[in-house]
Amino acid sequence: MARIGMIGPGAMGQAHIERIHTVIAGGRVVAVSDVDQAHAQAVADRIGGTAYASSKELIESLEVDAVMICSHGPAHETDLLACIATGKPVLCEKPLTPTADAALRVMEAEIAGGRRLVSVGFMRRFDRSYRQLKTTLDSGALGAPLMVNCAHRNPSVPDHYTWDMAINDTAIHEVDIMRWLLDEEFVSARVDQPRRTSLAPARLQDPLVLVLTTASGVRVSDEIFVNCQYGYDIRCEAVAERGTLSLADQNAIDLRTSAGASNPITMNHNERFFQAFVTEVQEWVSAVDRGEHTGSTAWDGYAAASVCDAGVQALTDSGTVPVQMIERPAFYA
Ligand code: NAI
Repeated sequence: MARIGMIGPGAMGQAHIERIHTVIAGGRVVAVSDVDQAHAQAVADRIGGTAYASSKELIESLEVDAVMICSHGPAHETDLLACIATGKPVLCEKPLTPTADAALRVMEAEIAGGRRLVSVGFMRRFDRSYRQLKTTLDSGALGAPLMVNCAHRNPSVPDHYTWDMAINDTAIHEVDIMRWLLDEEFVSARVDQPRRTSLAPARLQDPLVLVLTTASGVRVSDEIFVNCQYGYDIRCEAVAERGTLSLADQNAIDLRTSAGASNPITMNHNERFFQAFVTEVQEWVSAVDRGEHTGSTAWDGYAAASVCDAGVQALTDSGTVPVQMIERPAFYA
């Protein structure tokens, strides 16, 4: 049984705890820590675990075998480095870090330690429909992919959501899943800024379109619209030489009433990607038990952060911004 310590049991963290304690086998959250200590204590009381005064104490605790980091992105680096220093496997929610410089420090520490410990919570890689897209594209039946049109829509975002998070906290999902789907790196980023919705806070450019180009010239456009009001709507259409492929509607059921037929829209990531989260965390817990690594690596976290750095720059400087990345270290081959 993997004894898990969780840092930052907010909305995402508590959803993970729920999964681990109900549908996932082989793990239990035994320890929590949070900047809000009263909150950590309340969660610990509810799950019968221990609340630690700091993430460092939690990571170093002998009762913790592995760590999940579910705090906000800027807090991830320090805790990732502490996990690496103690040799504990860690599943870190996306983004690994909000900038490539910070991700590089994490990667360098992991390489120096000589063992892959860091997994990044890019759960879409575990989603059945994205996996079907990849299997079909990889089969070559449709020829080479040419363009992918994506959309990432949220009903609304919280007050702590800053202007750059549209890229480095939201679009980062598409950046990762497109690197995985197309199996190549992005070389440049541009941001188109359409008419702003009156329903977004003034600090945000919402919607925006991040336009990315891969090394072979595939163009990915990603509409980010985080105050769309109506639902959590993730769309993806890959256009290849001999056909197109799209994610289907989100729910497995169709609703038919006197008003007509519809496919209900999911309202949040936990609903839409329920199966993907379960598979992601189950595979990680099982790998922890076997002493193995699974899922996206620190390299994937770094590569995605590098593309997002270019995207954030493109949000303020108009024009196309090149993606700056180091060569993939042999450690992550
Ligand atoms: P939240 O605000 O609900 O929870 C964050 C928790 O972390 C809070 O309890 C907060 O007090 C705590 N925290 C903040 N700074 C901390 C620090 N320095 N040390 C310890 N605790 C700290 O936020 P939410 O929505 O749960 O997001 C958390 C992470 O999960 C973020 O990285 C976010 O990008 C990611 N996320 C991933 C999603 C996915 O689709 N995979 C969806 C939503 C969030």
